[in-house]
Amino acid sequence: MSTLPRILIVGAAGQVGMELQRSFSGRGAIVAVDRESVDLAVPDEVRALVRRVRPAVILNAAAYTAVDRAESEPELAMAINGVAPRILAEEALSLDSLMVHYSTDYVFDGEKQSPWVEEDQPAPLNSYGLTKLAGEQGIQQVGGRFLIFRTSWVYGPHGSNFLLTMLRLGRERERLTVVDDQIGAPTSAGELARATRQIVDGVLASKFGAPENWAGLYHMTCGGSTSWCGFARAIFARADKLLDGRVPVAAPISSADYPTPARRPKNSVLSNAKLEERFGVRLAPWPEALDAVLGELSAAL
Ligand SMILES: NC(=O)c1ccc[n+]([C@@H]2O[C@H](COP(=O)([O-])OP(=O)(O)OC[C@H]3O[C@@H](n4cnc5c(N)ncnc54)[C@H](OP(=O)(O)O)[C@@H]3O)[C@@H](O)[C@H]2O)c1
Repeated sequence: MSTLPRILIVGAAGQVGMELQRSFSGRGAIVAVDRESVDLAVPDEVRALVRRVRPAVILNAAAYTAVDRAESEPELAMAINGVAPRILAEEALSLDSLMVHYSTDYVFDGEKQSPWVEEDQPAPLNSYGLTKLAGEQGIQQVGGRFLIFRTSWVYGPHGSNFLLTMLRLGRERERLTVVDDQIGAPTSAGELARATRQIVDGVLASKFGAPENWAGLYHMTCGGSTSWCGFARAIFARADKLLDGRVPVAAPISSADYPTPARRPKNSVLSNAKLEERFGVRLAPWPEALDAVLGELSAAL
């Protein structure tokens, strides 16, 4: 009989879900489910899944992540982002399992002039942020052995993200305009999964002691910060092979020049000090993580 812990990955087809499957490979008996196996908007399906699998660890990488669409589908976004995480946490508690969940910089209004810390007051500007905050609060109210990692500007080699959009547009155009007054930390899904695995390994090995020593909410992003325009310029400067040697120009514009249904915070930078102090884990600086993802994309050409 296997002594490996059973690990349930929810949202396995998403950016973070795919990287979690890679990072946790060999670490446990992995049950990876996507939307076809469970609809998070249906509470009974969520409960039935956990009761059937009986995992030692739940990694919830699923979410309603269409930030602009959430403005017109707030109920659906709330069911997936606000209600389902609480149900997963309740089921985890009844099994004494570890529950890992991801949240977002968009719980903040962006008005602070320095990096946000976990104790700062959330005040979401949009429906997505409101629903993600509800999810955090639901898990915290349930309690137990849980970890919530708030992250930002997630991208990777798969799925729908800023990097892949810039590469596509960069092949089509010589000049693009990109928002320059929103600051954040681009964070690769691979770095998130690697750090998550390191922390989960430590928790399962009782390295951090009792849950009261480690359970809680942590910020988890790559190091450093930039604007979306700065991120685009870094992509164009490093992706010559992927752009057939072309270097498109990224011209800065303000958020006011690029209206979207959902408002977004100006300062999204999260402080990772608590994560580093508690777990001794640090994600790579964002340019380094970008190089790794570009390297993977280039290798696949
Ligand atoms: N992306 C970002 O920039 C960002 C920033 C900060 C925080 N986060 C958080 O990081 C986590 C991972 O995000 P990500 O970028 O990996 O997201 P993603 O690529 O959009 O993946 C989310 C996954 O959730 C699945 N899903 C959506 N609705 C579902 C439902 N009703 N039932 C079951 N599965 C459902 C999606 O399936 P379908 O593909 O079938 O829809 C998708 O596979 C999320 O908690 C997100 O809020 C993301």
